[in-house]
Amino acid sequence: MNLIAPSMLSANFGNLEADAAMLNSSNADWFHLDVMDGVFVPNISFGFPVISTIARCAKKPLDAHLMIVDPDRYLEQFCKLGVNWLTVHYEACTHLHRTLGQIRALGMKSGVAINPHTPVSVLADIVEMADLVLVMSVNPGFGGQRFIVRAIEKVRQLRQLIDERGCSTLIEVDGGVDASNAASLYEAGANVLVAGSAVFGAASPLQAIDSIKYAAR
Ligand code: DX5
Ligand code: ZN
Repeated sequence: MNLIAPSMLSANFGNLEADAAMLNSSNADWFHLDVMDGVFVPNISFGFPVISTIARCAKKPLDAHLMIVDPDRYLEQFCKLGVNWLTVHYEACTHLHRTLGQIRALGMKSGVAINPHTPVSVLADIVEMADLVLVMSVNPGFGGQRFIVRAIEKVRQLRQLIDERGCSTLIEVDGGVDASNAASLYEAGANVLVAGSAVFGAASPLQAIDSIKYAAR
């Protein structure tokens, strides 16, 4: 299953409806929403009012990536806005097991993200609680950064861990993804690729989506 989740961080904030309509009509699978608090990462993106606008326009699942400290405070609010996949950072959660359990209890799919410096091995005792693991292939905070190649090896390790456990956790990769690395990532075992600038910065976003999504075929 090769999915693509374009990141709305690179969309035109002056006309979110138009970009949402473009994604609705494309082969994109999910809307990726990057929420940054200026504390966990050195940038602030957008919050609930913007997400609610996107939720109103989007006809595909919402995949929220929380780059915020203490995400437990807001799980319910994201649920109420219609978020389907809710991902918190391993590095931001003291009681990750509880947080992932609460996300599931609210009826959302649970996700955990790991930064480039965080090894896959820290997930050994938590992977069954996650419906998705997000491997960061840049340091979170900004779109348009260069892909960290080491992420491909981390995807391989994670694929092995997930297969050994026999769980159906999806692997998502986020940061610097484009048509040049998509095939290697899917081949290593990734299921969902996030792409911001490679989609919204392209002359034809529809073609850019296809060139990533069908890269491995
Ligand atoms: C980075 C975000 C990414 C970002 C991806 O902190 O989590 O989702 O928007 O953008 P590109 O694809 O441009 O690296
Ligand atoms: Zn993201």
